Amino acid sequence: MLFLQISLLAVLLAAGDNEDAFQEEISFKMIHTSSFYNHSWVKIQNSAWLDDLQTHGWDTNSGRIIFLRPWSKGNLSKEEIKELEEFFHGLPMPQEIHRHASQWKFKYPFEIQITLGCELHPERAIVGIYGFAYQGSDLLQFQNNSWLPSPKGGTRAQDVSRVFNQYHVTKREV
Ligand SMILES: *[C@@H]1O[C@H](CO)[C@@H](O)[C@H](O)[C@H]1NC(C)=O
Ligand SMILES: *[C@@H]1O[C@H](CO)[C@@H](O)[C@H](O)[C@H]1NC(C)=O
Ligand SMILES: *[C@@H]1O[C@H](CO)[C@@H](O)[C@H](O)[C@H]1NC(C)=O
Repeated sequence: MLFLQISLLAVLLAAGDNEDAFQEEISFKMIHTSSFYNHSWVKIQNSAWLDDLQTHGWDTNSGRIIFLRPWSKGNLSKEEIKELEEFFHGLPMPQEIHRHASQWKFKYPFEIQITLGCELHPERAIVGIYGFAYQGSDLLQFQNNSWLPSPKGGTRAQDVSRVFNQYHVTKREV
């Protein structure tokens, strides 16, 4: 579903441009940040960005998306918006992160960042962005229906990807 949304956005971005005006790549990214203060306290922030322009925010209390621009809703239906809200609500499975924190050597307090989105290149190629980072360093990239450890992530990235690849429902959603 999320992939459909992203594809849809890419279609919207592609519509109406003319060849001269569109020289550089354009990206749309949804950024999810979980700050794990201790074993029981997690602060969640979500936002979405069209290049450097923030298009969406997140109300932590209600778990609702905040539409920051008049056009931020695009043509998403109420149901599609609800699905996105539920998807973001479930990221990144805080219980799982708590449970594996010591195994993965995640030291409290730490920050997890998940980036989802796409880049539209001048030659019209669309590249998906699906990343998982710990303390600002890339650990995993989502490719070809599975989580791949980043080369610089070491054994930690390999351990995390092994566990994440067992969550088939999440993989399908991504
Ligand atoms: C966890 O961190 C929060 C925020 O800093 C603090 O209010 C809370 O008391 C902490 N809980 C424990 C069990 O340390
Ligand atoms: C939204 O717009 C896209 C692109 O124009 C179109 O393909 C899609 O069917 C539209 N979706 C809805 C729910 O209207
Ligand atoms: C994607 O995964 C399939 C099945 O595991 C494999 O056959 C294919 O070669 C992979 N493609 C790439 C680009 O890695």
